[in-house]
Amino acid sequence: MYDYFLGGKDNFPADQKAAEAAIAAFPQIWIAARANRAFMTRAARYLAAEAGIRQFLDVGTGFPTSPNLHETVQGLAPDARVVYADNDPLVLTYARALLTSSPAGRTAYLDADLRDVEAILDAPELRDTLDLSRPVALSLVAVLHFLPDSDDPYGLVRRLLDPLPAGSYLLLSHITADVNPAVETAARVYRQQGVPVHTRSHEQIARFFDGLELVDPGIVSVHRWRPGPATKTTTSDSGQGDEAAEADHGDAEVSVYGAVARKA
Ligand SMILES: C[S@@+](CC[C@H](N)C(=O)[O-])C[C@H]1O[C@@H](n2cnc3c(N)ncnc32)[C@H](O)[C@@H]1O
Repeated sequence: MYDYFLGGKDNFPADQKAAEAAIAAFPQIWIAARANRAFMTRAARYLAAEAGIRQFLDVGTGFPTSPNLHETVQGLAPDARVVYADNDPLVLTYARALLTSSPAGRTAYLDADLRDVEAILDAPELRDTLDLSRPVALSLVAVLHFLPDSDDPYGLVRRLLDPLPAGSYLLLSHITADVNPAVETAARVYRQQGVPVHTRSHEQIARFFDGLELVDPGIVSVHRWRPGPATKTTTSDSGQGDEAAEADHGDAEVSVYGAVARKA
């Protein structure tokens, strides 16, 4: 569904039908998806260029969408290392596209579930790629809203951050119905299609950052997080651009909060 919102071709009739139902509830959903993706790119640039991070663990990667995280960070720091993880078997089939590292850096792909923290942290692919004695940016972009509170998403984030040293970062985005009740309707549509989507408030999303130092401007609508010139987002083979992602959308159209925070 997300690939469909991003204008990609890696989606199937069942995804298209479900996505159209979500669009009927929240017509701006494609704006939200593209603004989220553009936020991820800006935040990754900040982490590589300004925070000096060279190691990234991205859980809930999704289908390859250019620029992928490794393309963004290796464009700035060719020796950057990126471990991707997702629990969707279809993402696994596209993972080759995520493994095209720069010669100086490394990328790896884990077929893993965010709810199984040990399987992620102990995976040989992760241990061979990342040095956990050095700072890592943990990227959880548009993935935590797939976990109900009963899965203890706060505990999972904490346990993923626990082994990372001081100077590591959390990069996170999450949908919200704070400013637009239509988002809750769309989330219900997702749930009716069997996809458990849960909106959270600013206060609930802030809890993911407990004990961390938020980087300016804090937790804001993703299009307001250090906005810059338009980023061109293309899915793996659509060739469709996304020049509007960082245009002046309203918070209600975007309805995704994002932030970056540092572990002290
Ligand atoms: C909306 S996409 C986000 C993709 C990318 N992070 C972005 O923001 O552009 C969410 C991804 O999270 C993955 N996902 C959902 N629940 C997950 C879980 N429990 N463990 C790992 N991945 C999960 C889905 O398979 C999907 O690929």
